[in-house]
Amino acid sequence: MALRSTQTRWGGVTRTLHWIIAILIIGAGCVGLYMADLPNSPQKIKIYAIHKSVGLTILALVLLRVVWRLSERRPTDLPMPRWQQLAAHATHWLLYALMFAIPLSGWLYNSASGYPLQWWWTVQMPSLTGGADPDLKSFAHGAHFWLFMLLVAALLAHAGAALKHHFIDRDATLARMLPIVGDPTPAPVQPPAPVAVAEPEPEPTVAEVAAAPAPETKEN
Ligand code: HEM
Ligand code: HEM
Repeated sequence: MALRSTQTRWGGVTRTLHWIIAILIIGAGCVGLYMADLPNSPQKIKIYAIHKSVGLTILALVLLRVVWRLSERRPTDLPMPRWQQLAAHATHWLLYALMFAIPLSGWLYNSASGYPLQWWWTVQMPSLTGGADPDLKSFAHGAHFWLFMLLVAALLAHAGAALKHHFIDRDATLARMLPIVGDPTPAPVQPPAPVAVAEPEPEPTVAEVAAAPAPETKEN
């Protein structure tokens, strides 16, 4: 599997990161919505801790993804109307921004609530606010929720467009981002190599025929 992207295909690193991050974000969002209404219990504290650790892991993976993305080329867009191309790129920028803003707003909310933060019960993460701050807490809580709702809307457009390319336009936009499919874009057809053809003997001129010795005839 080629690790780097080419003109026709997303590389293995980008594809792997795209799908791992997508699964983790959707999972973190579902757990976030579920856990907020749970009654207080040791179980709830554990689920919160897992949600925060997964969220911080996503933040690290997104950082890695952006650094990698800046280090390589992007496959050329397949033919599509200009407005679709602009809409797709704008949505990609929005998704990148949200992939940072959502975990950061969660971290901000946790800090402004005055709670400590540990990554998978091992690494102690610093507070972003230096202590509890009720106003910031309420702002960050709202931001965390509404930014996630914006992600859901952007994701519906993004995934919907990918499926439209696949099933209606029948192009390789989705296939070239899928984790296991081989290169879906056929390599350009090479013109056949020229076959060496022997030059035909030039026709003899009238003078050459006349000058040639007469063919031997059998004497009786
Ligand atoms: C991409 C990663 C993340 C996603 C998609 C996500 C998503 C969500 C969602 C949808 C909620 C429910 C919000 C509500 O009902 O008000 C939530 C709650 C919460 N999230 Fe996240 N989150 C992420 C990362 C983080 C991180 C990194 C932290 C902290 C370091 C965090 C801390 C919290 C907390 C404390 C709550 C509970 C809010 C409450 O009790 O009402 N989240 N998250
Ligand atoms: C939370 C979930 C997701 C996020 C955050 C996300 C984010 C992104 C981003 C930022 C890009 C642009 C890559 C770049 O130009 O650097 C991208 C590309 C892509 N995504 Fe997603 N994505 C998600 C889920 C999905 C899903 C569910 C599908 C398919 C059903 C999908 C299909 C694609 C495809 C096909 C591309 C390549 C588009 C192209 O070649 O122009 N993504 N994604």
